[in-house]
Amino acid sequence: MNSLKEPVVIHKGLDNVYVKESGICYIDGETSRLFYRGYGIEDLATHSTFEETAYLLIYGRLPERTQLNDFTQRIESYRALDHPTLDLIRSFPTKSDPMDALRTSVSALGLGDPHPLTDDTEARIDKGLRILAKTPSIICAFDRIRNGQEPIQPKPGLRHAADFLYMLSGREPDPYDTHVMDVAMILHAEHEMNASTFACTVTASTLADMYSIITSGIGTLRGPLHGGANEAALRTVMEVGDPSKAEEYVDQALAQKKRIMGFGHRVYKTWDPRYVILKNLGQELAVRKGQTRLFDTALAIETSAMKRLEGSSIFPNVDSYSGVVFHMLGIPTDLFTPIFVMSRVSGWVAHVVEYLQANRLIRPKALYTGKTGLPYVPVEARTGLEARV
Ligand code: COA
Repeated sequence: MNSLKEPVVIHKGLDNVYVKESGICYIDGETSRLFYRGYGIEDLATHSTFEETAYLLIYGRLPERTQLNDFTQRIESYRALDHPTLDLIRSFPTKSDPMDALRTSVSALGLGDPHPLTDDTEARIDKGLRILAKTPSIICAFDRIRNGQEPIQPKPGLRHAADFLYMLSGREPDPYDTHVMDVAMILHAEHEMNASTFACTVTASTLADMYSIITSGIGTLRGPLHGGANEAALRTVMEVGDPSKAEEYVDQALAQKKRIMGFGHRVYKTWDPRYVILKNLGQELAVRKGQTRLFDTALAIETSAMKRLEGSSIFPNVDSYSGVVFHMLGIPTDLFTPIFVMSRVSGWVAHVVEYLQANRLIRPKALYTGKTGLPYVPVEARTGLEARV
């Protein structure tokens, strides 16, 4: 029931709806290309670091040496958690989902913000960097506390990826593991107007604070159709357990209309370029760690799925190998989605800053198809018929 004269087009899922112009990320889903600020993802994965990529995304250009050093130092100086945050994490039930712990802790960081009332561009970036810097510390502190261990302080001089692995295990990580973690973080740092970036943008458009903005993004990223797919994909590989069982699994899953996790994408109608990079890293890591069965099982699932899905536009996405890679780095499965968050904060900050340069409140519409003008019946007089109208 509505009084609209023009027919309404409902964009359920908002496919192909553009909400802003952007210079941050370009995805060519037909030719399998991805650019951050104009730089190809393959070049960034080969030559850049997570810190440099985060600077590029947020400030729009590659930093000069002193700018990069200052930026890296600034992140390092924000990494440690204060006592109230650590006490909060200690108060969480040890069985809590790490994404709940992360979402709650990031939200609580706002309580300790030294300049809560400033909201110009530099202040927003600074708050974003504080969140970016502290996210790995929160994830590691929660993981250690739930396992009955003391959190480890960040180690000065270690870069972000290395410090994450260090705070998680208490050991300085192997250089190749650090390299893989760094590349994985670059690959997860940004991906245009996906669901969580849109959630951040919606919250930002109300002129809410950075902590509310990033908390919205974390809540949205969590679902298995978005950031949660990496955990689901690894669980599938573990469940299948052996390359010889992959074909049977894929056949059964597709016959039951189940989705194969780590496959399909709203934008890529061919393979995801990040998948190629992670698959290569995964293969190398599997040989180094002697965990080839896990990798080969993922590969066999991919081969079977590609055979069965031939002719569709469903191809492997970033999550088909990210879980396998994180597992081989010794990271617990339920930390995979939090890791996605700690990388993606950089893209969220970049988009929020860009959107707020020409803000417009995001307020779409819903086409009302219900009734109007129903008579209000007092509760005592209701017969039950009203409840069924
Ligand atoms: N396995 C099997 N079939 C799949 C599939 C998958 N991974 N992904 C999509 N499909 C099928 C759907 O069942 C649907 O088939 P139908 O038309 O016969 O019903 C068709 O492809 C279109 O799916 P739809 O959900 O409308 O496409 P989308 O653009 O909304 O899907 C995803 C994008 C990511 C939600 C979807 O591909 C998916 O659920 N993938 C698995 C989760 C995942 O890996 N997410 C990480 C993304 S980076």
